[in-house]
Amino acid sequence: MGSGASHGSSDEPKTIAVFGATGLLGGAVARALLKDPTNYRVRAITRKPNNDKARKLAEKGAVIVTANMNDMESLEKALDGAYAVFLTTHYWEERNKEKEIVRGLNAIDAAVKQNVKHIVLNGSESVRKLIGKECNNLDSKAAIEEYLKEVGVTYTIIRLPFWYENFYGIFRPHKIKHGVYAIPLPIEDAAIDMICVKDIGPCVVSILDSPKQYKNKTIGLSADRMTTVDMAHVFSKHIDKQFISPKIRTKDYEKFNFPEARDLAAMFELYQKNLAHRDIRLTKKLNPHVRTFDKWLERKLYKLEEVLAGDKDNEFEHQK
Ligand SMILES: *[C@@H]1O[C@H](CO)[C@@H](O)[C@H](O)[C@H]1NC(C)=O
Ligand SMILES: *[C@@H]1O[C@H](CO)[C@@H](O)[C@H](O)[C@H]1NC(C)=O
Repeated sequence: MGSGASHGSSDEPKTIAVFGATGLLGGAVARALLKDPTNYRVRAITRKPNNDKARKLAEKGAVIVTANMNDMESLEKALDGAYAVFLTTHYWEERNKEKEIVRGLNAIDAAVKQNVKHIVLNGSESVRKLIGKECNNLDSKAAIEEYLKEVGVTYTIIRLPFWYENFYGIFRPHKIKHGVYAIPLPIEDAAIDMICVKDIGPCVVSILDSPKQYKNKTIGLSADRMTTVDMAHVFSKHIDKQFISPKIRTKDYEKFNFPEARDLAAMFELYQKNLAHRDIRLTKKLNPHVRTFDKWLERKLYKLEEVLAGDKDNEFEHQK
């Protein structure tokens, strides 16, 4: 060791404060860290300390801390003594870009105040800058990235691709007629990057394990890359139904009648134009066990069939 980044005795486990620890992404990071108690202690930050997910993390050894990202005092308390922070922010709950940015900046300020050594951020490229269209849920994350890069703390930014888990929620295959389902992603003939959220956890652990290698870097993660035709093949291989690719255009998608349509159309336009660079080789280096979509679907069969059986005539509902 011997760099300025290490402090205290190097064989003490380091405390990592994980935001969104009861969510899908923060939860994956927390669980991956909990598998390495010799090196890490997990401080799970949540607004919902009494829910089941928080309890399960506590059973596995995490310390549950309640903090409100609008309240500096609670943030500073939550980050006191932490070596590193895994930071994610949410857009969909409030659908307010400015408020999401404020929460992200608050967390960064509190981390700096508490002398945290490394911040790993779930960031994003700015869709507005790249294609000239508003994408509130990603532009907010881009603004938080920009701030983090200037603030003078060591960081690693991860940029994520489409999650396989999205097929349970708003992007679940939509029933067209009996036994026939369409993959509702507006990417026409383009291939997009994808990953299983759980596989991101070990990637973040690898980043924290090798801070020198990944300091002040921006890393695009991906485990697989597919067109909707490829996805339809994989679905048909594992589920005894017909899957098709309707090749929806972003131009049409943005006019769909649900509140996220415009933001999501812009996001998919970014993906479709290949402007979001994700690196499968680097991702496999960070986590040699990342699953391809095929491998993931093979294991998830039961749950997906349930999702498809419950299909309520193309009703969009946001993933919780
Ligand atoms: C990372 O960049 C920040 C400035 O943005 C700097 O203060 C910090 O020392 C850098 N970290 C390392 C380990 O080089
Ligand atoms: C992380 O960022 C991605 C955008 O790259 C976003 O879709 C996702 O919701 C974020 N995750 C969390 C838990 O905030």
